[in-house]
Order: sequence, then structure tokens, then C-alpha cells
Amino acid sequence: MPAREHQILIATSNPGKLREFQGAARELGVAVELLPDLRAIPQPIEDGATFEANARIKAEAYSRHAPSELVLAEDSGLSVDALHGAPGVHSARYAASLRDGRVPHGNSDDEENNHALVSQLDRIGRGPFTARYVCVIAAARDGLTVVTFTGEAHGEMLTVPRGSGGFGYDPFFFFPDLGKTFAELTLDEKSACSHRGKAFRQFLDWYRATS
Ligand code: IMP
Repeated sequence: MPAREHQILIATSNPGKLREFQGAARELGVAVELLPDLRAIPQPIEDGATFEANARIKAEAYSRHAPSELVLAEDSGLSVDALHGAPGVHSARYAASLRDGRVPHGNSDDEENNHALVSQLDRIGRGPFTARYVCVIAAARDGLTVVTFTGEAHGEMLTVPRGSGGFGYDPFFFFPDLGKTFAELTLDEKSACSHRGKAFRQFLDWYRATS
């Protein structure tokens, strides 16, 4: 079935990401819907070396299941300078990759990942631990990437959590511009300054200009 006008299909199994995309889209007058039957589609292997490579892998694979439609996928993660860019493209699997010494296919849960990150920072000792979140959105049609957009948010990692919003590493990601962690922001505030919000607004500018 073709997507409705101004309805954008997205392929993500992460409820936190979906909530943020839908929040940002509503504010801007478009609807973001999950790709139908996403759960039944085999997940592509995210073995790219960069966020962009993984975003392309996902968008291309999922778009083959919605002929002629523009399908969005994103890859994102946290990069901590004192950890030489880790957890990076392995952000979702950080705890398991440290524990097993190799990159597993399955994700670790947020609590395990946060615990692993704090242990690594504690080993280093004193901060500040400058870090950035990166999000790459890829839009693909019929298995080919049409365009990609990148957004970044710069902050510092705490070793004690603050706030209960957001997801993933948010309680530890302090955003100096607002003096809060990402877990202390409302959905709208996070959208205004986050890596995902920035990439998504670039996508929407492109979408409006081309459709
Ligand atoms: P992906 O699903 O392979 O792109 O993994 C993204 C991972 O990066 C998530 O599971 C989180 O661990 C982390 N991450 C990405 N964006 C955010 C964010 O906005 N807040 C917190 N963690 C994030």
C-alpha cells in the first residue's frame, strides 16, 4: 500500500528513537509511521565501520520491503573522546562487546551498557569526559540510498546518572548548553538540540524541497 502523502516510513525497532522521530515530525506537520510488518522482516547485519554505513545497510534492506516508498533508517551512538571514540558504532552492544571481547549480533540493554561505560570512565579517573552523540539518517528507495543526513550533539559524560527521560546513555550525557542531562529534557527540548532532531530536520528540509 503506498504511504499517505506526508507520511514517512521509518524502520526502527528502538521505541526511544521512534518516540523522538514521531514527536519531532508532529511538531513539523508530518507523520512518521513504522514500516508495516517490520517485526517479520529479518534484521540486516549492521557490520559497517561507520554510522553512515550502518544507516545505509538498514535503509537499503528495509526499503526492499516497501516497493517505491522512501524508507528511513538511522544509526546512532555515543563517542567518548577519552575512550578513543568508543562505544561508537557498537553503542547498542557495548556491554556485551567488552565482556566477550568481540562484537555480538544482539544488543545489550541500556542498564548494562551504562554500567559498562561508567566502569570504563571510572578506570580513567578524572573527567571532564567530552563526548558526542552522532545520528545518521539514510533515506532509501527500492534498495538504493537516496540521501543521508548527519546530526551531532556535544556534551560531557557524567559517572552518576541524572534524570529519568530519554533512553540509552541519556542519564549520563550532560549537555552544557542547557545545564542538564538529556534524560532531564522534555521530548521537545531533546528534539531541539539532539543529534537525531538535527539530522531529522535536515531530512525534512530536503523532503519538502524535493516532494
Ligand atoms: P543502533 O540502534 O545500532 O543505532 O544503536 C544506537 C545506540 O546508541 C542505542 O542503543 C543507544 O545505546 C545509543 N544512542 C543513540 N542515540 C541515543 C540517544 O539519543 N540517547 C541515548 N542513547 C543513544
